[in-house]
Amino acid sequence: MCGIVGYIGTKNSKEVLINCLKKLEYRGYDSAGIALKNERETQIIKSIGKIINLEDKLNSNNLITANIGIAHTRWSTHGKANETNAHPHCVGKVTLVHNGIIENATTIRNELIDSGITFSSETDTEVVAALLNKYYDGDAISTINKTITRLTGSYALGILFEDDNNLYAIRKDSPLVIGIGEKEYFIASDITAIINYTNNYILLDDDEIVTLSNDNIEISKAGTIINKEILTTDLKSEEDNKGEYDHYMLKEIMEEPILLENLFQKYITNFSLLPDLSDYEEIHIVACGSALYAGMIGKVLLEEKANIKVICETASEYRYKKTVYDRKTLVILISQSGETADTIASMRKVNKQNIDTLAIVNVKTSTMARESKFKLFIEAGVEIAVATTKAYLLQVATLSLLSYKAIINKSPVTNSTLIKEIKILPELLKEILTKREIYQKIAQVIYNNEHAFFIGRKMDYALSLEGSLKLKEISYIHSEAYQAGELKHGTISLINDNIPVIAIISDSTIKEKTLSNIEEIKSRGAKIILISNEEITDYDLTITIPKVNEILQPLLIAPCLQLIAYEVAKLRECDIDKPRNLAKSVTVE
Ligand code: G6P
Repeated sequence: MCGIVGYIGTKNSKEVLINCLKKLEYRGYDSAGIALKNERETQIIKSIGKIINLEDKLNSNNLITANIGIAHTRWSTHGKANETNAHPHCVGKVTLVHNGIIENATTIRNELIDSGITFSSETDTEVVAALLNKYYDGDAISTINKTITRLTGSYALGILFEDDNNLYAIRKDSPLVIGIGEKEYFIASDITAIINYTNNYILLDDDEIVTLSNDNIEISKAGTIINKEILTTDLKSEEDNKGEYDHYMLKEIMEEPILLENLFQKYITNFSLLPDLSDYEEIHIVACGSALYAGMIGKVLLEEKANIKVICETASEYRYKKTVYDRKTLVILISQSGETADTIASMRKVNKQNIDTLAIVNVKTSTMARESKFKLFIEAGVEIAVATTKAYLLQVATLSLLSYKAIINKSPVTNSTLIKEIKILPELLKEILTKREIYQKIAQVIYNNEHAFFIGRKMDYALSLEGSLKLKEISYIHSEAYQAGELKHGTISLINDNIPVIAIISDSTIKEKTLSNIEEIKSRGAKIILISNEEITDYDLTITIPKVNEILQPLLIAPCLQLIAYEVAKLRECDIDKPRNLAKSVTVE
């Protein structure tokens, strides 16, 4: 999703902004642009495609000397990905970059067109620039305040005025941090963009306006100056740090054993950090994408282990649904970024009704981490590859830990066996990850197909959903996940010779049922790839993983699915870390 950076200080702003922009590449984008400013002029350069294209253009232009600037990566919403629609946008004296969606942009655009203003792009952002320019009377703060009263929707804005040497920023429902350096300041969509320059930052809240000069920062809201706490992050830069790996995705999968070990260590040694779910009669799990599929595993585990009714729902539906909270309910919101627009909206809806919220998040500075009643951090570190792997696994692991606490509360006797398994699990996973040949062999079977299926029951179905999503998002093979017993109700008509079907069997109580479903598909020509915790050798390709307690089992299966998707995408020569059209952090609806 769009990324914003801004700089004011003593350094060459072009160098700083390009470096920071590169750190936002992981969010996904289709064009990029930069505005450089000094006391005399503002220069705007944009390009479609990767930041390298923008750099090429910058190198072939005569650039002004500038210590101020704003820059942007655009993930198109209003209008195609082309240079005209790319940010920054300039109207009259105003130049700005924007992340978010202005919902009433068409109304304002029509009103401005009626008053004689012409637009060159199709974007909602240019409408904001035109409105600011219309209201601009030399006083930036009052102009911004007047403009935002007209806007509905979400925005994080970095703004420059032609006859003013400050950098301004404001946000509403879109993330924005302010970096504090030595005689220099930054604005950024997230802290990772600026950690090469500073670890000190301020989190802006909705409708606070920040004014930055190279030796001063002032924050105000509705005309009143406010003091904000300066925070420090311990995040480290991951720059150029793929190490021995070809892709961040592979590197991040390989980090999973150590991250699991650290996560278990953190929560098992400090059990009170985990909330006691037995206080609740009902749990709702709400999330998007892979986080939702992690939640679906959580639902199976918590229902079976904690005997609590669990509803798991996609956030884009939950936020608009009528929900009756007639029993003591906990709403668990899962999000790597903590900035997913639909998940935040769901959380706010629940908070308003005074129902307990628990955020399972990775980014500690995120909106969800700040606004939920309880929070659990998954400690995944920075995840660069757009398609999540380690963060998803640690979301599942956190839900496993919640189930673990529920089990121990009910039956302390099981504790010692489970603890033993928790301790050896990272080692077991390490072994699974080293067997690269099997995933490469499976990929050979899959990569030439345009369709694939994943099947499983209960928890294995939830895992299938993520396996299927991973495959389609990075390899562009059309893939569907089905509950093993459901495939025959229509979709089996798509099964023909050699279509790959990845079947997961980890629950011995329903193993025979799934095996019958596999036979139905096999007899129609499908190539079966089986992942199981039992030795079953009747199929084309089989991965056998160690059998562990049900609450830990998904943690050994999910990485196999991630590696299958990775090897397939590699054979298809896809842009694995930055798949087309995808955004890592979906900050608009
Ligand atoms: C996007 C990403 C997915 C992610 C989903 C939810 O669609 O591409 O990988 O699972 O958003 O993101 P979150 O940050 O809320 O976990």
